[in-house]
Amino acid sequence: MRLDIPDLSLVALVGISGSGKSTFARRHFTPTEVLSSDAFRAMVADDENDQSASADAFDALHHVAGIRLRAGRRVVVDATNVRKHAREALVALARAHDVLPVAIVLDTPESVAWQRTEARPDRQFGRAVLRGQQQNLRRALRELSREGFRKVHVVTEPDDVTIVNERAW
Ligand code: GTP
Ligand code: MG
Repeated sequence: MRLDIPDLSLVALVGISGSGKSTFARRHFTPTEVLSSDAFRAMVADDENDQSASADAFDALHHVAGIRLRAGRRVVVDATNVRKHAREALVALARAHDVLPVAIVLDTPESVAWQRTEARPDRQFGRAVLRGQQQNLRRALRELSREGFRKVHVVTEPDDVTIVNERAW
């Protein structure tokens, strides 16, 4: 599967916990392009799992994303982005900087994501949280194009993905 991604774009990864977003980001993008909500929670609250730090973490993430986009640098947002308001903020940010918002959905089966999450010592939430994320993801899959994402790529076989960088338009 070939994904054409404009050089200058805001790429929103979308997927439930354990779907493989961070792994995908590491494989396909440079470390400095990737802004991860976990890294920003750690930065502002010393704990990447501290959900009470999310508002501050996203505030900081959006700020840095804006600085990069203003300088003509691609941004890849590694966060679940399963909720509409999270995606709306990213579409608005892309528009404010005149770059294309692109979504890459990691549509990994919930059972697989749960197996991986359960095996991780750094993930403590229960099955119900993942189920809620999956419900939001199903809704997201119906709504993404209408929300303003110019391209929506749905990945079910991450091993088969090749990213092709498109020159700026
Ligand atoms: P959160 O940060 O919790 O939202 O999860 P995530 O979507 O970033 O998932 P992550 O990339 O951290 O992957 C979770 C676990 O699944 C890790 O242990 C990965 O090694 C494993 N994993 C991710 N992608 C793949 C894949 O394509 N194949 C296999 N076999 N394992 C994968
Ligand atoms: Mg991750």
